[in-house]
Amino acid sequence: MNNKYLILVNRNNQISEKYECEIVNCDSIYAKDRKLEKETYLQFKKLEDFISKKGYTIAIESGYRSYDYQKKVWNEILISKGIEYTEKFVAKPGYSEHQTGLAVDFLLYENGNFYDDVKMLGHPVLKLVADNAWKFGFIIRYPLGKEKITEYGYEPWHLRYVKNKKIAKYIKDNNLCLEEYLDMLKK
Ligand code: DAL
Ligand code: ZN
Repeated sequence: MNNKYLILVNRNNQISEKYECEIVNCDSIYAKDRKLEKETYLQFKKLEDFISKKGYTIAIESGYRSYDYQKKVWNEILISKGIEYTEKFVAKPGYSEHQTGLAVDFLLYENGNFYDDVKMLGHPVLKLVADNAWKFGFIIRYPLGKEKITEYGYEPWHLRYVKNKKIAKYIKDNNLCLEEYLDMLKK
């Protein structure tokens, strides 16, 4: 795939330890040192503004992760949440699309508290993001019901920038995951 915005990274498609992309520093009310691929960040800011106009505050929880940082994340989550959670939700270093800079985990800020991960489940902001992320070139990378294909648990907070809005809308409207969309292109 020569379109870097459609790169597939999953349990069967490794990313080189040396993969490089244009990474920028991000503003996040949650953390100071977050980074994303340049265009992904610009579009995420627009999504953030859109969601804010609807009355909710979202922010970057996690963005670009180098190979070594993914290793650190994996180990930390293993210690804090155990092996079952870690294997279901966290990629091994070299197998995470966070290393592309195109993946964003967002969290919700409400009434002075941050809600991340499964703490957001059932909150209306998730539907709002799922319905509108395509307008900014994002898809929900690990949709509900696609766990057997993506090989990860449902992660409504993990957005993946694919750039092309028509592609993002097509994936959403047809209830596909990225693996299914890319398979379809091959046929
Ligand atoms: N949560 C996704 C699978 C990752 O760690 O890259
Ligand atoms: Zn993620």
